[in-house]
This record gives sequence, C-alpha cells and structure tokens, in this order.
Amino acid sequence: MRNLPTASLTRTAIAAASLALAGLAHAGEVEVLHYWTSGGEAKAAAALKATLQAKGDTWKDFAVAGGGGDSAMTVLKSRVVSGNAPSAAQIKGPAIQEWAREGVLTSIDSVAKANKWDAALPPTVAAIMKYKGNYVAAPVNVHRVNWLWINPEALKKAKAKAPTTWDEFFATADALQKAGITPVAHGGQPWQDFTTFETVVLGVGGADFYRKALVQLDQEALKSPTMIKAAETFKRIKPYTDKAASGRDWNLATAMVIKGEAGMQFMGDWAKGEFVAAGKRPGTDFLCMAAPGTAQAFTFNIDSFAMFKVKGDDRIKAQNDLAEAIMSPAFQETFSLAKGSIPVRLDVPMDKFDDCAKLSAKDFAATAKSGALVPSAAHSMAVPSAVEGALKDAVSQYWNSDKMSAQDAVAKIAAAAKAR
Ligand code: GAL
Repeated sequence: MRNLPTASLTRTAIAAASLALAGLAHAGEVEVLHYWTSGGEAKAAAALKATLQAKGDTWKDFAVAGGGGDSAMTVLKSRVVSGNAPSAAQIKGPAIQEWAREGVLTSIDSVAKANKWDAALPPTVAAIMKYKGNYVAAPVNVHRVNWLWINPEALKKAKAKAPTTWDEFFATADALQKAGITPVAHGGQPWQDFTTFETVVLGVGGADFYRKALVQLDQEALKSPTMIKAAETFKRIKPYTDKAASGRDWNLATAMVIKGEAGMQFMGDWAKGEFVAAGKRPGTDFLCMAAPGTAQAFTFNIDSFAMFKVKGDDRIKAQNDLAEAIMSPAFQETFSLAKGSIPVRLDVPMDKFDDCAKLSAKDFAATAKSGALVPSAAHSMAVPSAVEGALKDAVSQYWNSDKMSAQDAVAKIAAAAKAR
C-alpha cells in the first residue's frame, strides 16, 4: 500500500472501524426452525445461513430432525404456546393462515414491496404467503412431489424398463425382484406412505380427480370406484418394499437407490438433493421420471418461512434481512441447486440446473396453464393441518394392515376428510 502520512492513516483506520461498528450495531440474531437435516437438505440450509451471515446477522439454528416436518411442528407449537416463538419457522400452505389467525405472525410486507415480490412470484404462490393482504411468509422454492427415482444399473441387471404406466411399473418391479434387487425403496413413516398414496391417486385418477378428492375433499370422489382403484394400486406396491422399511428415514431409502440396493423410490425432488450430494449425475447414475400416469401433472410443495412477532429492533431487522435473503435471486438459485427443487421466483435463469430441474420448471409452467398443477396434500399445501393429519393416519393404517380391504380403507379416508 502506498506510504501515507500517519495522520491520514489514523483517519482511515477510524473511518473503517466506525463503519464496521455501525454495521454491527444493527446486527441481530435470527432463530430459525427447520427440519432440513439430511445431506442435501443440510447443504441447502447452510446456504441460507451463509446468505444471512453475509448481511452481518447471526443465525441461531433450531433444526428438528424428522422428514416431512411432523416433529418440527410439534416442537414449534410448544415454543409458541410458552410465548417463546422463534423468529422464523418452516411453515407451508394453509398452515400459514392458521398461524396468522392466532395473531403470532408479523408482516414482512415492507420487504416484499421494496423488493417487488408480487412481480416475481406466480400469483397463486403470493396468495399463499399473505394474510389479509400482507406477506407474513417468504417462499423458498418449488418442489415437485410426483417423481419416481430410478437406478439405471439396477434396471439393466433386471433387463427392465423405466415405467410410464402402472402396468409397466409392476412388470419392472417383478423383474427387479427376480434379479434379487429390492424393487421399491420406502420409509414406513406416515408422511412417506401419504406421499406415495397421493402420487398413486394422481396417476390413477388424474389431476382433476386428485383435486376433487384430496383438495376439495369431495365425499363422492373420496368414496368413488376410482379412489378404490387407487387404493388397490397403492397397496399393490407394498410387497415390493423390503422388510426393514418400517420407520426408515426417507433419505436412507434414497441411499438404497443410490447404492443400487433398490431400483426405484417414489419421493419428491428433495431426493435429488441426496443424489447430488453423493456426486451422482442425472441421466447417468440416476433417472428422474414422472411417476406412472403423472407426466402431464405436477404436485407442488413450496417451502416457506413464516415470520413470528419478536421483540427488539435488531431482531426485527435481522428477520427482515432473512426474508430479503430468501427471495434474493442469487440465493434462490444457490439453494435449489443443493435442495433438488427449482426457484419459486419466475425470473431466475435455469442455465445452471440439471435436466430434472429443467423438466420440472417446464412442467410447472405447462401445468399452471393446463390446470394440472395441484397442491401436495401430503406436504401441507392442500388441506387444513387437522385434515392432513387424519388423512395421513388413515392411509398409513391401510398401508400397515394385512386385513383392511381397499373399500374399508377408502371409507376411513373419506371419514378422515371430515376432520376439523
Ligand atoms: C417436505 C419439505 C421438503 C423436505 C421434505 C423431507 O415437507 O417441504 O423441503 O424437507 O419434507 O423432509
């Protein structure tokens, strides 16, 4: 550095120090509740933490393991009831309205307006994030749920093909079984059973039927022959899962497909985050396929963070910094590259994304036009929390029962849809 006279150096040092202190004076802490604890999820969560820290704020991690978020929501309720809510929590879909009605969420509308969120988001997404016209949650991404993940090596060993119909699916499952490979990697947890069930309903009945049954909770649709056929197809998958499936975490099921111990997995594209974290390449080491019968449909699951009322200017500013970080174009790209999702902002280029993500983005736009874009019931996007829980339990009971008929299961599911 050039030789500067001492006095000038001192002034420069004082200026630099006061700038830094000014920044620090506004540094605040944000406690964030989330359930991203698997390999791919943790990498994505780390990207959010780094983006916030770059703004000078402190990230207090409040991670509650358990895919699908059931445990996280239980812990959140106890924290809020005891008057000790975190700054932000991973809350999605109708639950945002439920929490807002409790009067515990805070508006981040100033951040949304300053950053023109309305122009950047699909209108349906913006509406989900608002309560009485003000943003109270920041959307992170768009996951597609109706995927089938496949190990092509396993297909080759079994001399089987990637299935596009349910008949082809069961033929491929038989071939994999004969080759000594577990046909379907599954984790026997209610949210995973429900994820598979909703994908089968979409594939057997189509998007309009799915919406009528699992979004509008129409009793006639829920008790219809189509729903019985979907229930039978769903249960027909069970014998192709392995004996140790009960209780298995979703990412350990994905690991079975990664290692070739299993041929296929029904799972949302957070599973792609696991393949990517393991250094696997789409099209070579794994295939991403729309689940049978669902190529023209898209079950969406949008992660978002709802913002809770907190005390202290520094914490409020840090909370606003988090909201701004989540919706920044750069973060939207970085996060989804690790998470397996696509950005929820419509203005983020897809150049860096792989073919699975590009297909997801294309289908997201196409199904928004065709009407085959449906909210995931299994991932808190479609129905009130109480109904989601009741449906999940009814489906899981059916999956685990050796005696329950499809007719009985459908009657239980229809009754569960009336839960309030
Ligand atoms: C979903 C969530 C995803 C992923 C998945 C597995 O509900 O939206 O981001 O975390 O659960 O935990």
